[in-house]
Amino acid sequence: MRKPVIAGNWKMHMTCAEAREYLSVFLPLVAHTPQDRNLVIAPPFTALSTVAESARDSHLRLSSQNVHWEDKGAFTAEVSPLMLLEHKVCYSIVGHSEPRKYYSESDEQINRRARSAQTHGLIPIVCVGESDEQRERGEAERVIRRQVEQGLEGIDSAKVVIAYEPIWAIGTGKTCESKEANRICGLIRDWVGFSDLIIQYGGSVKPGNIDELMSMSDIDGVLVGGASLDPKGFARIANFEYC
Ligand code: 13P
Repeated sequence: MRKPVIAGNWKMHMTCAEAREYLSVFLPLVAHTPQDRNLVIAPPFTALSTVAESARDSHLRLSSQNVHWEDKGAFTAEVSPLMLLEHKVCYSIVGHSEPRKYYSESDEQINRRARSAQTHGLIPIVCVGESDEQRERGEAERVIRRQVEQGLEGIDSAKVVIAYEPIWAIGTGKTCESKEANRICGLIRDWVGFSDLIIQYGGSVKPGNIDELMSMSDIDGVLVGGASLDPKGFARIANFEYC
């Protein structure tokens, strides 16, 4: 049985004060959300402890937006898994297309981050996805397969989440058709060869398309950017219903 993971990636948004205000609206709206799904928010590092504190008595879980492969050391600007565990973090996003693009993160680095997270009991959310140009050139499947295979090397498939996020659908309002997103998620499941693998879709997920996406056979959750910044909208996403 695959338990869906509904995750909000706040990216570089929300001060601690804003996070507190957000949760005061969001948490009551998800107090009766069915327990058949995991709810997760990935705040910026600076708001982790605030969110942990505000969500203490709820079933909301915390994710970091990245994690380093070393426990400590001279790695300016990085955050270690031990530091995250102190804040009750359960998941770590790795390989998001933004650090891949802006900081040239390689599949090898992403894999090191994912393995380190798993070693420490954090569940890595490994993001994969093709660009517009790659899709137009017919390379989407080859690119995603490489990201999946390299990103998951040495990883226990039972303790990882894959997020399929086509880059052209991120922050553009252009959602990938649910059937196509489902097809790619199915391919990823076949490549990994583990039927219980949790695979999310991400890219312009919103209250208006969540029910359809979640009704797809191979989509086990969503990774939401922009729409997760509105507590009412994200609560609607969290409270999705199968159609
Ligand atoms: P949007 O939902 O804003 O398209 O962002 C998706 C994303 O990058 C989540 O990690």
